[in-house]
Amino acid sequence: ATRRGGGDGSIRRRRVLVFPLPFQGHINPMLQLAGALHGRRGGGGGELSVTVLHTRFNAIDPSRYPELAFAEVPDGIPPDVAANGNIVDIIVALNVAMDGGESSPSFRDVLASVVAADDEGRKPRASCLIIDGNLMAAQKTAAELGLPTLVLRTGSAACLGCYLAYPALLQKGYLPPKESQLYEPVEELPPLRVRDLYYTSNANQELVRKVLGWIAETARNSNGVVINTFDELEPAELERIRRELDGDGVAIVLAVGPLHKLSPMNAGGSLHLCPDRSCIEWLDTQATGSVLYVSFGSLASLDSNEFLEVAWGLESSGQPFLWVVRPDLVKGLDKPSLPDGFERAVEGRGKVIKWAPQQEVLAHHAVGGFWTHNGWNSTLESVSEGVPMICKPQFADQMLNTRYLEAVWAVGFELVGKLERGEIKKAIKRLMVEKEGAEIRERAKELKKKMDQCLESSGSSQIAINRLVNYIISL
Ligand code: UDX
Repeated sequence: ATRRGGGDGSIRRRRVLVFPLPFQGHINPMLQLAGALHGRRGGGGGELSVTVLHTRFNAIDPSRYPELAFAEVPDGIPPDVAANGNIVDIIVALNVAMDGGESSPSFRDVLASVVAADDEGRKPRASCLIIDGNLMAAQKTAAELGLPTLVLRTGSAACLGCYLAYPALLQKGYLPPKESQLYEPVEELPPLRVRDLYYTSNANQELVRKVLGWIAETARNSNGVVINTFDELEPAELERIRRELDGDGVAIVLAVGPLHKLSPMNAGGSLHLCPDRSCIEWLDTQATGSVLYVSFGSLASLDSNEFLEVAWGLESSGQPFLWVVRPDLVKGLDKPSLPDGFERAVEGRGKVIKWAPQQEVLAHHAVGGFWTHNGWNSTLESVSEGVPMICKPQFADQMLNTRYLEAVWAVGFELVGKLERGEIKKAIKRLMVEKEGAEIRERAKELKKKMDQCLESSGSSQIAINRLVNYIISL
């Protein structure tokens, strides 16, 4: 049996399960949280160990994380949905399969066996499950097994606030957005405007609405919500969420970010690609602050024409650049080829790679700007290194992130409208060369200082992690 801690100085071991949504932007912060919790000791002499649950779809390779334990759970994602890879479809399929799906063994049986203590008494019964905010069905199953759940939100606090308010926003008629009202304010959620809300104009909207409803319900039904942000970045948004979730009986709402700075777990990791480290040597040869890093995360894509415009926009800017072109970056192609004459035109000044060690790239002295899709991880990683941004959001929370970057933190600006080489060149000059860019860069440096403080031993995120550890040990 598990030894109980107490006055005799013995260690009270506690095991935590974590279950990320199987996508890069969700796996990274969950593994970082796992890394921050594993081996941590709390008050009363308790010590945590972590078991990571993962699906076969986008499976995590356990051999890369020898410190952590892993367990595969049945995902029940139909092969055609898996092949298509659409994140909303996969969230729905996964939840349906876990919630009474027909896989054998069932998710419930597998979870029950992972939760249980082993016979030898080396592995205690798990005391809680930390799930990605999209995995409502896992929360239901955990409740049936008497296991408390905490939710990790891999997006911002503002994003969670927006998703909690989504039904009210629908009712008030903000959505579907009317062309004439795109720039009207969403009165309930300043500084958001109608165009910053998550909306897809295709048939997927009904599913999006359903998933956002699940996200809100999962947060409200949890014991606690852990958000990858920091108190000084989103004070008003965190305050609002705390008030709201407190009313729902959620015990704790903690801002523990940026998680990649608390734990190096999975830095630069990719599900399918190896980070190309030759770019670091290349960056070493470039002048300080001169290089624009260009990456659209792990999911966003371009059509062939947009791809050409980006290429020639980078070329015509005259600025050094490091561009991540994933094999699936261009819709409908397995492997995009760069336009004729491009490589010669940018020789010595431009480097194209398939996957970057992004955190290291952003921390490199040569990088002076980041053209990003504003996925939340990329946004936080850039903020953490004081790198200002050109923003081209595509879907989900990315528009909202861009809005905060531009209107609240003022550390970047949006490249509005269709991707066109002349506009791209102008935006790059604006950030990398002009006076306005220098001012944005100064603000980015100031914001980085605030973040550095939250990571100090008495900083807000360290305090939040300690509170989380003690809370888990108390369960
Ligand atoms: C997705 C959604 O797009 C985003 O809106 C949501 O907030 C999280 O899920 P993704 O597109 O993967 O995210 O972007 P992002 O959140 O920025 O995460 C990408 C991760 O991959 C980052 O941690 C980044 O460092 C890493 N990365 C990306 C690399 O390590 N190398 C690369 O070349 C590109």
